[in-house]
Amino acid sequence: MKKLLVTGGMGFIGSNFIREFIEKYEIVNLDKLTYAGNPANLKDIDGHPNYEFVKGDICDEKIVEECMEKGIDAVINFAAETHVDRSIMYAGDFIQTDVYGSFVLLEAAKKFGIERFLQISTDEVYGEIEVGLFKETDQLNPRNPYSASKTGADRLASSYHNTYGLYTVIVRPSNNYGPFQYPEKLIPLFTTNAIDGKSLPIYGDGSQIRDWLFVKDNCEAIEMLLSKGKAGEAYNVGGENERTNMEITKKILEVTGKDESIIKYVEDRPGHDKRYALDNTKINKLGWKPRHDFDEAMERTIRWYMENEGWWRPIKSGEFKKYYKEKYGE
Ligand code: NAD
Ligand code: TYD
Repeated sequence: MKKLLVTGGMGFIGSNFIREFIEKYEIVNLDKLTYAGNPANLKDIDGHPNYEFVKGDICDEKIVEECMEKGIDAVINFAAETHVDRSIMYAGDFIQTDVYGSFVLLEAAKKFGIERFLQISTDEVYGEIEVGLFKETDQLNPRNPYSASKTGADRLASSYHNTYGLYTVIVRPSNNYGPFQYPEKLIPLFTTNAIDGKSLPIYGDGSQIRDWLFVKDNCEAIEMLLSKGKAGEAYNVGGENERTNMEITKKILEVTGKDESIIKYVEDRPGHDKRYALDNTKINKLGWKPRHDFDEAMERTIRWYMENEGWWRPIKSGEFKKYYKEKYGE
């Protein structure tokens, strides 16, 4: 059985990935437990014989090397600061973890002769696109500190293949949705606010478009790329479900049974990317395509937040409250 070092496994996508594949791989989860890292996300697999949790920072060379010494075959680097709005408030944290932390991991992977290194990048590295779809060969044009930091790591991973021959694969998923997403992001924020009858702060006019990918589909793509991804190559993982923020908001209102009076138009995000959209041709050729129906998976996701208040209420009354107050002054 292969042994994986998964970083950032207490976050949204990492925890979904570990739960999905814990029977197939031995997994060491290295996570710093920032505000976004939540042990409750993996409470159900605590004590599983294939699972080990290490609390630590990917920027810490010593702890990273201690993890590599556990006989790791492949690394999947999910660990990152991930929220665009926070990157506008505290860009330095993003440069540190997303760029420098990825460098520390790549160096250790080189030193320990790791077989595969998957760098989880993002569709945001391309910047916005008004019409058409981005291909992997298109120019990268990140437009905020989050996407710029992720681009740094994306290109660094590619350079470690080109320069040192490390087997790196770069994964560029579109916006994920599903259970266990920190309620600062659009879907869990609006769903949990709607449940409480609180306002839904739409940036600008709500016409921005994201391509929504169910987290399980993303995890399946990542797992497939672990064996089928070619060295040094990047792969788009698009959801093929483009929706405006207003369409997402209306779906949340419908499922939670609230009306449009709770929508609140607020000042637009600075440098707000208008639209993200990916061409999936390259990954389709490897045999992957998203298999979850958007309306069904989206409704299931909204209902998960409705049925799991015990998961998000402690978050929203803790660190999140401080962040929201700093952002909106309320
Ligand atoms: P998340 O914010 O929910 O979780 C991030 C995790 O990384 C947390 O558990 C946190 O504790 C951990 N972490 C942060 N800094 C760390 C450090 N220095 N050392 C160790 N651990 C650290 O993020 P997510 O939404 O699960 O995203 C996972 C990855 O996927 C990220 O690299 C992100 O850029 C990428 N991505 C996310 C999306 C999305 O829609 N969520 C889309 C495309 C790409
Ligand atoms: P988000 O979930 O932060 O993901 P990203 O910015 O990485 O795509 O935001 C998704 C979209 O929703 C984006 O266009 C910004 C918008 N948005 C709002 O309108 N209001 C909000 O409170 C949030 C968090 C996001």
